[in-house]
Amino acid sequence: MPAKTILITGASSGIGAALARAYAKDGVTLLLWGRDAARLDAVVAQCRARGALVTTQVFDLRDAAGFTRLLAAAPALDIAIFNAGLGGSAPADVFAETPEAAQALAEVNFTAPVVGANVIASAMAARGAGHIVLIGSITESFPLPMAPTYAATKAGLKMFAEALGIRMARHGVKVSLVSPGFIDTPMSRKVVEPKPFLMRADTAAAIIVRKIDAGARTIVVPWQFGVIRGFAGLLPRGLLRLILSRL
Ligand SMILES: NC(=O)c1ccc[n+]([C@@H]2O[C@H](COP(=O)([O-])OP(=O)(O)OC[C@H]3O[C@@H](n4cnc5c(N)ncnc54)[C@H](OP(=O)(O)O)[C@@H]3O)[C@@H](O)[C@H]2O)c1
Repeated sequence: MPAKTILITGASSGIGAALARAYAKDGVTLLLWGRDAARLDAVVAQCRARGALVTTQVFDLRDAAGFTRLLAAAPALDIAIFNAGLGGSAPADVFAETPEAAQALAEVNFTAPVVGANVIASAMAARGAGHIVLIGSITESFPLPMAPTYAATKAGLKMFAEALGIRMARHGVKVSLVSPGFIDTPMSRKVVEPKPFLMRADTAAAIIVRKIDAGARTIVVPWQFGVIRGFAGLLPRGLLRLILSRL
């Protein structure tokens, strides 16, 4: 296999850390970015033990201008995975999300990956090769009343991934959207509602890596959520809204 250089944001935890471990081997250079230095170091040690070369960046993605500068200075990437994200739902006993929480969700889950993917798309298109991967969520297809901003950021990311994919195709750059259901990570552990088909992060990462390698444009993990989304799409919108309003 030719040498690969791969960027993963949010590599200090959950799905990002699992993706880093899944890619780590001889001949692979990983750029692992996160906020928490200690957690990131632990993932770096696991990846180096598997033979990968690793560089790190401890960085807050809410600084969009700084993120742009860092990405512009990065080495040529074969794969850029924009994974970092914030979870967040508003408790039922408040009217709405706080403006601060809504802004953080919008910046981390939407602004950062969109700004970052545009920087990398230009660099990859100039070389005529590369693969951009955006980690969305199955919530992109559901107007969740308990998490309006989270669902909206992921719906926006879905539209962005599709549009960017069409634009980049003629330049030899692939764009994939990953839509996880419930994956067992610190983020999902905060969810108190039932979590059907909950999957281990390392299992999900192995599936995601295999499908990225196969060039899949859309990836749903676990697959059962693709079926649920398909059925939900057949329902009249009013009925879907009624069901969601009862959750
Ligand atoms: N787990 C699920 O069930 C699930 C379902 C659907 C979609 N997803 C999506 O999958 C992605 C990964 O989530 P996860 O479950 O692995 O969550 P996680 O374990 O909480 O990890 C989130 C990662 O994002 C990073 N991050 C958060 N805010 C950041 C910021 N301001 N600047 C830089 N990095 C930041 C965190 O860095 P630090 O830890 O260093 O702060 C961490 O590495 C997210 O986009 C999430 O929306 C997850």
